Amino acid sequence: MAPTDATAPTAGTEWWRSSVIYQIYPRSFADASGDGIGDLPGITARLEELADLAIDAVWLSPFYRSPQKDAGYDVSDFRDVDPIFGSLADFDAMIERAHSLGIRVIVDIVPNHSSDQHPWFQAALAAAPGSPERERYVFRDGTGENGELPPNNWESVFGGPMWTRVTEPDGTPGQWYLHIFDTAQPDLNWELEEVRAEFDDVLRFWLDRGVDGFRVDVAHGLIKAPGLPDFVQSQEEASMGGGAATQSPYWAQDGVHEIWRRWRRVTDEYPGDRILAAEAWVYPLEFMARWVRPDEMHQTFNFGYMEAPWDGEALRQVIDDSLETFGAVGAPSTWVLSNHDMIRHATRLSLGEDAPQGHGVGPETPGLPDIEEGIRRARAATLLMLALPGGAYLYQGEELGLPEAIDIPGDARQDPTWHRTEGERYGRDGCRVPLPWEADRAAYGFSSTGETWLPQPGLYGVLARDRQRGTVGSTLEMYRDALRLRRERGLGAGAIAWRDAPAGVLSLDNGGVRVIANIDGAPVKVHGEVLVASSPFDGDLLPPDTTVWVRAAE
Ligand code: NOJ
Repeated sequence: MAPTDATAPTAGTEWWRSSVIYQIYPRSFADASGDGIGDLPGITARLEELADLAIDAVWLSPFYRSPQKDAGYDVSDFRDVDPIFGSLADFDAMIERAHSLGIRVIVDIVPNHSSDQHPWFQAALAAAPGSPERERYVFRDGTGENGELPPNNWESVFGGPMWTRVTEPDGTPGQWYLHIFDTAQPDLNWELEEVRAEFDDVLRFWLDRGVDGFRVDVAHGLIKAPGLPDFVQSQEEASMGGGAATQSPYWAQDGVHEIWRRWRRVTDEYPGDRILAAEAWVYPLEFMARWVRPDEMHQTFNFGYMEAPWDGEALRQVIDDSLETFGAVGAPSTWVLSNHDMIRHATRLSLGEDAPQGHGVGPETPGLPDIEEGIRRARAATLLMLALPGGAYLYQGEELGLPEAIDIPGDARQDPTWHRTEGERYGRDGCRVPLPWEADRAAYGFSSTGETWLPQPGLYGVLARDRQRGTVGSTLEMYRDALRLRRERGLGAGAIAWRDAPAGVLSLDNGGVRVIANIDGAPVKVHGEVLVASSPFDGDLLPPDTTVWVRAAE
């Protein structure tokens, strides 16, 4: 399959203002070695199939050396590839192949914490309290009579206390260290120049290897309020971060911004528009926009669209607020519907409003989704999203309409959230299941041996890429059509003009395309030539849960 014209990189500079970036979750994308875990050679071998989607870039979740306690977000060497994913030579081959197909490559970087197996942390454990080795992390004496209680009351995002007590080298119970996430992910001390200099160097290491930018993990973390005051975060905010509006002492401290300005100076040393994209779960949007001021990052994930209820008015509000707020700081808005931390949108959109957000769903989740309704809504939401100006993010498998995998047995689940809450929260495994490529092959083509690190639901066979490619009306063909049109008509760099529409229906024009999204309204008459539809549509009355693009009247 030869790349088509539609795969050429976005012309001109500042490509990131209108880009479509496809998230690859390496563990679950394609497994060339056959051990059941995806790897870099697997990605290289499948890149051509992504070029077929007219995306601008891929973002790879971490593939660095890691004990994999949090699926690679626990990094023990920031400058090497974990053997389960391949080698640095495999990385070089992957990036070369991507660039030859006109696809840029963004890598994840995880500055808030390292793995507990990182040499720095091992050195800290072996050193004495107060030593320079301990200074690189956040060690404190405990409270209580003998230091047997944690230094404060903070709760880890994954459940349980945010502190773990160490045994000192002499065998006595000792200090405690801070970890916003799992015990295996000690927070680094970003007050220290040595930590800052180390990450400047890590950035340069990957920039020198040709990466086009970084997705910055937990970009609202890093700096903690002086004195580490007690604080209780609401359950909802605790789900993946959030919380800036609540004056949290560990999220969104002002001090993070000087770090991002410093990183921006590093990326600006390199030619070719290298970018920084923040994962910063902070609210409200005006606050989030601080991460993308002109001298900070280029993009931030705007999770507002993803978190909006399935309600026409709410979606319009999010779109307007996002364009206005990011526009006010000169940054593009981004749009996201799914990622490796959230319930896949083909499932999430048919769960009621009380659905657990970001905690995963399982067989006992009340009001389990209607698969048909979920996929209809997911496609409608995507088609609306792809018509909006700014940067769009796609998460691997959403172009196949994959639903969340719900029936994962407890002993197969791997997310630390599941283990740390003793099964109370399902965690994120359900959106991380290995992709189906070919319906008739072992593991649906994910791995040659049939091994998969998480079990694949039978439905994934029906939804395999080879079943959908070329099939009129499939989810994959809808994505292909929409992405091609988005590029051809420059929708990402366009501007929207709202049109009057009945309640529950959104209608807008952008770049010669008229978008009509019937979210939750009555069936509505559509005029004009249909360019792409989210569900089969007879060209007359558009039912709810359906979006169409029609040629706008000249
Ligand atoms: C956010 C990442 O997206 C998530 O997967 C990870 O568990 C945490 N950061 C900790 O690194």
